[in-house]
Amino acid sequence: MNKLTEQEKEGVYKAIYNRRDIRTFLQQPVSDELLVKLLEAAHHGPSVGFMQPWNFIVIKDAETKAKLAEVVDRERRALAIHYEGTDRDTKFMEIKIQGILEAPVTICITCDPSRGGDHVLGRNSIPETDIMSVSCAIQNMWLAAYAEGLAMGWVSFYKKPDIRRILNIPLHIDPTALISIGYTEDYPERPLLEAYNWEKRKVLSQLVYDNTWGTSSNLL
Ligand SMILES: Cc1cc2nc3c(=O)[nH]c(=O)nc-3n(C[C@H](O)[C@H](O)[C@H](O)COP(=O)(O)O)c2cc1C
Repeated sequence: MNKLTEQEKEGVYKAIYNRRDIRTFLQQPVSDELLVKLLEAAHHGPSVGFMQPWNFIVIKDAETKAKLAEVVDRERRALAIHYEGTDRDTKFMEIKIQGILEAPVTICITCDPSRGGDHVLGRNSIPETDIMSVSCAIQNMWLAAYAEGLAMGWVSFYKKPDIRRILNIPLHIDPTALISIGYTEDYPERPLLEAYNWEKRKVLSQLVYDNTWGTSSNLL
């Protein structure tokens, strides 16, 4: 194993703790060189049976971004109904859930469940492991973006058929995530949903059990 120096180790934890989901972007473009670095980071993520089920659609075209932003906003409005009449009603409408229009780049990360054929090692037992693998790739990209001083936002408010139609994605391919990438002047220390008093980080000691479900742990 190629061990990290103390300073490198601190860097890894710094990225893990300080990485944020960002929805406000500057118009400043992102170089192709940096984009390739982020894509390489994603491509070095773990995957079940090493199936590497991902593809990356890099979208810079303003018209396409506008179409994506429109279907995301439609979905946001549809979801708002669930909060009508509750104390979260106005709060939900205040929360910004995407920055697709502003961000210079959106990457649609997809999952191909057929990649690797019928018998991908490990995937036969748990089919969702293909999407889990894509999530690992996305987290790699998120940490790499942080390391490069870039902001990244994960957008999942959409109906998959809308995204397939706009981006010409075949039916069997899952549009797993829309990722906005760019620079920002507003990189908060805490998750935005915490700042909005929507949700806060749970206490870890209440989530860790010893040996069997529900048995409090002495670890923390
Ligand atoms: C699978 C997934 C989907 C998400 N979808 C959205 C989304 O549609 N819009 C949004 O604003 N944030 C989205 N987020 C970001 C979360 O809201 C964010 O990660 C969480 O509030 C914690 O904040 P942090 O990432 O800054 O630590 C998503 C995150 C994940 C992991």
